[in-house]
Amino acid sequence: ASIKPLVAGNWKMNGLKTDLGIAAEIARGHDGALRTKVDLAICPPATLLYPMTAALIGSRIATGGQDCSLRDSGAFTGEVSAAMLADAGAQYAIVGHSERRTLHGERDATVKAKAQAAQAALLVPIVCVGETKDEREAGKALAVVKKQLRGSVPEGSTGATLVVAYEPVWAIGTGLTPTTADVAEMHAAIRADLGRILGKAAAASVRLLYGGSVKPSNAAELMGVSDVDGALVGGASLKAEDFLGIARACG
Ligand code: G3H
Repeated sequence: ASIKPLVAGNWKMNGLKTDLGIAAEIARGHDGALRTKVDLAICPPATLLYPMTAALIGSRIATGGQDCSLRDSGAFTGEVSAAMLADAGAQYAIVGHSERRTLHGERDATVKAKAQAAQAALLVPIVCVGETKDEREAGKALAVVKKQLRGSVPEGSTGATLVVAYEPVWAIGTGLTPTTADVAEMHAAIRADLGRILGKAAAASVRLLYGGSVKPSNAAELMGVSDVDGALVGGASLKAEDFLGIARACG
């Protein structure tokens, strides 16, 4: 609770320049009282990073990439480096989102290399972990997430250089959410595991976001769970009023 929450919006493959007004509307709503209580970030598609960062000048809202290359530069057609994201104004980079892990076959070692590339470019990686429905039903959720953390989190990270997002795959875009007891159990386990990887002091300051069907109507309940330091929001981040409603639920 001593950690200032972060609500990060992941626009995924949505958004054209005509949608930059959404970011401006979010900035208008992130007023004095709210901005002292909650940090906000928006992760648009890479094509919008530069204009969105420009549209948000004067606000305290950060932008972030949705992925980054694990390479620095060179003959890697289609890849976007962490330094390029930073050059476009980003402060964060989501890495290891379940859609990257599932649809692009990214494994823990790749996710870790991307997180390290982000840190090297002075971006804060938002490292995503989370179990599938089958893994949850088989009672393996904690073990799966523990393994992902061990494989994906760069050693030496601190609360200033790392954010972790717990996103149960079955809760993403489905309207389903875990019980608050399950979220509390998982976030406590993540904090404890990070303590073993990074040391207790560093782990205590890492923001642990919950993601998966967060909406204004369930945000207060989810954000009230211990060891939940904010949210990673997909669908609801595309509507300024919904995103702001989630932010207010953290404050
Ligand atoms: O990165 C965001 C998550 O995948 C959550 O997406 O809020 O649409 O369920 P959602």
